[in-house]
Amino acid sequence: MQQATRIFSILAAAGLLPAFLAAPAPQMSYGENTGAVGGVNPPIPTVTISSGSLYGDSSLLGEIAKPSPISGGDSAIVPDADVTLVNGQEADSKLGLYLDFNSVENPQPLRGTGGQTAPGPRTYEYEKLNPDIFAPPGTDSGDVPQAQWPLGLSHNRFGTGGKSGWARQQNTDQLPRATEMAGVDMRLAPHAYRELHWHSANEWSLMLKGSVRLAAVNENGESFVDDISAGDVWFFPAGVPHSIQALDEGCEFLLVFDQGDFSEDGTALISEMFIRNPKEVLSKNLQTPVSAFDDLPSDQLYIFTGTPAPANISEQNMTGPAGILPYDQSYTYHFSQQEPYVVPGGSVKIIDTTTFPIAKGFSAALVTVQPGAMRELHWHLESDEWNYFLQGSARVTVFSPPESSRTFDFTAGDVGYIPAVFSHYIENTGTEDVIFLEVLQQPKFTDISVAQWLALTPKQVVKDTLHLPDSTLDNLPKVKTYLKPGNKNLTALAANPNGTAAYEPAD
Ligand SMILES: *[C@@H]1O[C@H](CO)[C@@H](O)[C@H](O)[C@H]1NC(C)=O
Ligand SMILES: *[C@@H]1O[C@H](CO)[C@@H](O)[C@H](O)[C@H]1NC(C)=O
Ligand SMILES: *[C@@H]1O[C@H](CO)[C@@H](O)[C@H](O)[C@H]1NC(C)=O
Ligand SMILES: *[C@@H]1O[C@H](CO)[C@@H](O)[C@H](O)[C@H]1NC(C)=O
Repeated sequence: MQQATRIFSILAAAGLLPAFLAAPAPQMSYGENTGAVGGVNPPIPTVTISSGSLYGDSSLLGEIAKPSPISGGDSAIVPDADVTLVNGQEADSKLGLYLDFNSVENPQPLRGTGGQTAPGPRTYEYEKLNPDIFAPPGTDSGDVPQAQWPLGLSHNRFGTGGKSGWARQQNTDQLPRATEMAGVDMRLAPHAYRELHWHSANEWSLMLKGSVRLAAVNENGESFVDDISAGDVWFFPAGVPHSIQALDEGCEFLLVFDQGDFSEDGTALISEMFIRNPKEVLSKNLQTPVSAFDDLPSDQLYIFTGTPAPANISEQNMTGPAGILPYDQSYTYHFSQQEPYVVPGGSVKIIDTTTFPIAKGFSAALVTVQPGAMRELHWHLESDEWNYFLQGSARVTVFSPPESSRTFDFTAGDVGYIPAVFSHYIENTGTEDVIFLEVLQQPKFTDISVAQWLALTPKQVVKDTLHLPDSTLDNLPKVKTYLKPGNKNLTALAANPNGTAAYEPAD
């Protein structure tokens, strides 16, 4: 060290050190991003470049460099006195209470007796949206594949020819573990088309807003045309060519594909197929002069504006000798008109091959969870689960056997992915109903309910294993309830950690 200082002094005395090296080392001023809301304005070091060199000097290498300041000034840590905790943050971390960081400016990764403040650079909005990632419940452990993706972070591909629409997607690029299913969120302006196309994956869709006219033809020459609106479902088998046109109000819909690496940019479009074949062949194939192809689009159309579809759907009913698609193979199901199955805490609607036989690999539940309530602890037997959150805020703990678990937070527009047999729940952490979709690759929608399993297992076996009291075991419902009602105050347990406040509001 003495030698290093001496070298430094000699260099400085000889005027061999550039001026900026002789000054104290510049420090970044960390903390919240101070840019405009929604803007990007990274902290910029307050350094005046007084030399032309992009590099420092080799005398800055550890062992010979002048000591850097190790306390005080710009390197100081936010003192603990500035830290404001939220309700439940000091409670036993194993209670794992939901922490609402929206009530503080500067959330801190502290829970129970663990964690530490976060003085470094960060953007608080991420941590307010993901409190269970930032200050995890004490029960989280080990490594679990990423289970959450906000579609708000997905690249948006615009349609062509003006304000025709857009699409954004989630596949294995975003969630590497989501190997069995991928999703697309698509918007079509009034009268806009998703171009005539086909693909190698099966396509299942839930209409989110507005209405569309769908048309398709199968391998038998049987034709199909139908209008559906928000809350309805469609299914197109792999390879079946189809068209989608928004009706007067436009629409937005969700697509789920049974290939994790499916890309919306990789579908087979009819415009490209025509562009990529010799005109001699096109002429022969359609038995028409080559001049018929003079106005073919020169590039793919993808999503584009079009002529309004006639209100009377029968005018677009193209039927050949094979007739229309048989009803039991219909590509649509008017799911919006299905009454929900109401249970304490919310409601459930199930669609699978029982009532929608064409959608062979797909089963789904559309679940509404009231504030404080949760979709009960369960898992699925054969299939991974693909989720989409239509409304509200929720959290999910994914238990990855044998000994890992991680808790993820979700808000409207997020995708979730949970591998088969991994247990999970979906707890409403907000003040409005959570509405979410569970999609499985199974012919029937099934799950194993933890509460029902314990209720239907010999009592002595459960007692010897989990040491639960008789009063608990005698109250377990023998029927599957799907949901469990709960207290809207998610930190009520902090007042009496041994109590019933998770599911019973205090008087
Ligand atoms: C289309 O035409 C077929 C055969 O005439 C008929 O059975 C079917 O109901 C029609 N569908 C619509 C939507 O008009
Ligand atoms: C709808 O179109 C069909 C076929 O063109 C026609 O027979 C029918 O009368 C029309 N219905 C109405 C309400 O205009
Ligand atoms: C929730 O319960 C906690 C613990 O009893 C209490 O401190 C807090 O004020 C409650 N919150 C609301 C919104 O009632
Ligand atoms: C919770 O129960 C444990 C053991 O039953 C007891 O030691 C503890 O004091 C109780 N805590 C509260 C806050 O009631």
